[in-house]
Amino acid sequence: MAKHRAASIDGKLSEEFAVPSHVDDVTELMAAFAERHGAAGRRLVLITSGGTKVPLESRTVRFLDNFSSGRRGASSAEYFLDAGYAVIFLHRHRSLYPYARQYSGVNLLDSLQLGGSGGGDQVVVVNREALPKIDKVLKRYQDVKRDGLLLPVEFSTLSEYLHLLKASAQVLGTLGSKAMFYLAAAVSDFYIPASDMPEHKIQSSNGPLQISMKMVPKILSPLVKDWAPRAFVISFKLETDTSILLDKARKALDTYRHQAVVANVLDTRRGYVVVVTHDTQAELILTDEDVSKGVEIEDMIVSNLTRAHAQFISKQEG
Ligand code: PMT
Repeated sequence: MAKHRAASIDGKLSEEFAVPSHVDDVTELMAAFAERHGAAGRRLVLITSGGTKVPLESRTVRFLDNFSSGRRGASSAEYFLDAGYAVIFLHRHRSLYPYARQYSGVNLLDSLQLGGSGGGDQVVVVNREALPKIDKVLKRYQDVKRDGLLLPVEFSTLSEYLHLLKASAQVLGTLGSKAMFYLAAAVSDFYIPASDMPEHKIQSSNGPLQISMKMVPKILSPLVKDWAPRAFVISFKLETDTSILLDKARKALDTYRHQAVVANVLDTRRGYVVVVTHDTQAELILTDEDVSKGVEIEDMIVSNLTRAHAQFISKQEG
């Protein structure tokens, strides 16, 4: 039965979603990363971040996008690294990136000044008022890089996301309960199969556009049941209507039988989430005082989930 389910989604993935040309190279990198950190006894988290893009034409001019800045994923990556995890960061090309995201609203050129020249080279000086705490952030980023704790992997289209998530799930599946999946990306539920897609730009001279889209297979299902059955899996649930949020989160847990759902509403997602498990429900709220101290809700989410992951590991090993 499990084999049948995986086979049917695998079939759909390879028939209807173009396989990215770099998937084998990325799989090799992820496997080496997982092996190195697994051997060091480190926990590993795969974070998905940003929205997927669904092309409407083969030679794409137009596409359907999913809303997500990537802030949740990028800031969470920093807190997981602080908690001692190695992080595979599967993110949308040009969405927010760990550490650099702290300066995303800044024009870098306005923060730099030309200093004197040292040994013939021109020196560039950072204006600390324009880039506060830059030394601390840069040092942390360089430490993470030096220790090889962060593996960035990019996607743009839904096809790339699906194939790269499958590859990473199969790699992380080998680590058992030490692996966590933190699926914060905003993934399209609809797509146009390659066989139904017009090759060239859709012409407005043909009149109003009607599009028929198919349902994207729920990748969470084979991930939990077939590819990484012993891992700790967290999905996210985004709604705009608060009244249906918790029911939807519970339904997702009942359907996929994974460990937790982080439920959030679009307008309040920066200050309020609910972490729903099979037998608990924790509201995480950022107070005005937290905000004035620079506390972020991702710090609370990651603390909650790393604690739960530790318990999960001891139970599985127990
Ligand atoms: O990036 P920010 O601007 O900071 O915003 C963060 C966020 C709001 C995007 C994030 O907190 C969030 O809620 N992400 C999930 C949004 C979403 O797409 O939810 P969904 O209900 O469509 O999907 C639910 C889960 O199923 C997701 O974990 C997704 O990875 C998974 N899924 C979705 C589609 C699909 N075909 N297969 C899946 O497995």
